Amino acid sequence: MRVAVIGTGYVGLVTGACLAHLGHHVICVDNNPAKIEGLQRGRLPIYEPGLEDLVREGSASGLLQFTTDLRTGIQNSQVVFIAVGTPALPSGDPDLRYVEAVAREIGQQLDEQYRVIVNKSTVPIGSGDWVRMIILDGAAETAKQRLSSPEEGKVEVLSERDPDGELGGVVTQGLRPASASSESCWMPQFDVVSNPEFLREGSAIHDTFNPDRIVVGSESPRAIQIMRELYEPILSRQKGLSGDPVPWVVTDLASAEMIKYAANAFLATKISFINEIANICERTGADVTQVADGIGLDKRIGRAFLNAGLGWGGSCFPKDVAALIQTAADYGYEARLLRATVEVNQQQRQRLVEKLQQALKVLKGKTIGLLGLTFKPNTDDMRDAPSLSLIEHLHKLGAKVKAYDPIVSGSGIREGLAHVVVETDVLRLAQDCDALVLVTEWQEFQSLDYSHLAGLMRRPLLIDARNCLDRQALRQAGMTVLGIGW
Ligand SMILES: NC(=O)c1ccc[n+]([C@@H]2O[C@H](COP(=O)([O-])OP(=O)(O)OC[C@H]3O[C@@H](n4cnc5c(N)ncnc54)[C@H](O)[C@@H]3O)[C@@H](O)[C@H]2O)c1
Repeated sequence: MRVAVIGTGYVGLVTGACLAHLGHHVICVDNNPAKIEGLQRGRLPIYEPGLEDLVREGSASGLLQFTTDLRTGIQNSQVVFIAVGTPALPSGDPDLRYVEAVAREIGQQLDEQYRVIVNKSTVPIGSGDWVRMIILDGAAETAKQRLSSPEEGKVEVLSERDPDGELGGVVTQGLRPASASSESCWMPQFDVVSNPEFLREGSAIHDTFNPDRIVVGSESPRAIQIMRELYEPILSRQKGLSGDPVPWVVTDLASAEMIKYAANAFLATKISFINEIANICERTGADVTQVADGIGLDKRIGRAFLNAGLGWGGSCFPKDVAALIQTAADYGYEARLLRATVEVNQQQRQRLVEKLQQALKVLKGKTIGLLGLTFKPNTDDMRDAPSLSLIEHLHKLGAKVKAYDPIVSGSGIREGLAHVVVETDVLRLAQDCDALVLVTEWQEFQSLDYSHLAGLMRRPLLIDARNCLDRQALRQAGMTVLGIGW
């Protein structure tokens, strides 16, 4: 199948590379020329384990191509993915301007060929119909230009609104020169489907080939059938993929969009829940890790996402929870549980600063070393990383902040780190620190020589803000150890 993926970021590039590996012809489109030029030369704009090999394989086979030209991208494509960013606006609403720009451009390029336009970007409930409307607007603009001639003068836009107004807009639209007969009316042939993405950065390729489910929201049997064919190798475990068939979930458009938000809101709430339990554990003498193991064995609860720590961050949870709260408000509902989820998450970072204050008293003039900066291990993504708000708190209190991160240290990523001394190894990080805080649970932090680090520090204090290290071993290494929820 011929596929275009518009937006070559964490989601678009992984989706494109994985679909090419499965044998589809994929063209990835991005409006950032430096990104595309790099990809054409085999240079990746992001760090994601295994992605470089897949991109190299796809480029070598010719199944994976890159361009900045959307027209070339969608010209022969049957399926067009929209995978551009939807960052949060200050109001909490997602910024849909990138989706809007792409939808309009797609509309301008549509021809007589039928296409499935797939919304993979996380967009608010109801966006599928809105995207369809923007595409039609784009198509109308181009058709007007195409059909207008000095002799004919005008073009008529034929449109039909949904009779009950439930879809909130134009549902069919055609265009014809004012002087022409109705037979010469041109109608773009496409359906919009929602296909929310559930991959996790750091294991994105594994997640794409082994999803818990594939969700497709659409009212069009034709579009659903094409999506099914596209994903068939994953669904029925072909092309070397093993394991049970993957559940295929077909819903209406709005429900597919809601599934994405509800999933992320639930996971964020689960983390905030265990952080709340951790805070109660600290006061009562219980140990949250043992508590999480104990409740996690209950099949109705499950152990995943019950790790107490600094809280959630990243490019998805904060903006998606904020967007769902905002959507609820738009429809006259106050999402109180979700508000509390956000509040607990914000306080969790403040609590870590309080722990440092209790241990070190005045933080002004103290040096704090951060182990890890990214919002989770195995990614270079710093968007809404807990480290950034921790850094802000510490700077306000006059502390000096140093940091080491396995990926960020050696990269050019310095956004939000203007006043942080980014070290290139842990020994330099530990030198003269009053405390180390483990912020991101990178595997390499499991095997550091902590007794050597303790010797380099001004005070051998380590706060394991992810509860991922062996406390006993750390104490034997001469560290004073604090964690979250014990
Ligand atoms: N990152 C994740 O883990 C993840 C997981 C699930 C869902 N999502 C959702 O997927 C969407 C994409 O997220 P991401 O993290 O990949 O974003 P990203 O910022 O990494 O990538 C977006 C890309 O789109 C490109 N772009 C913007 N406008 C464009 C245009 N007009 N034409 C062509 N390209 C354009 C940008 O240059 C960028 O490369 C978001 O809605 C996000 O919420 C992300």
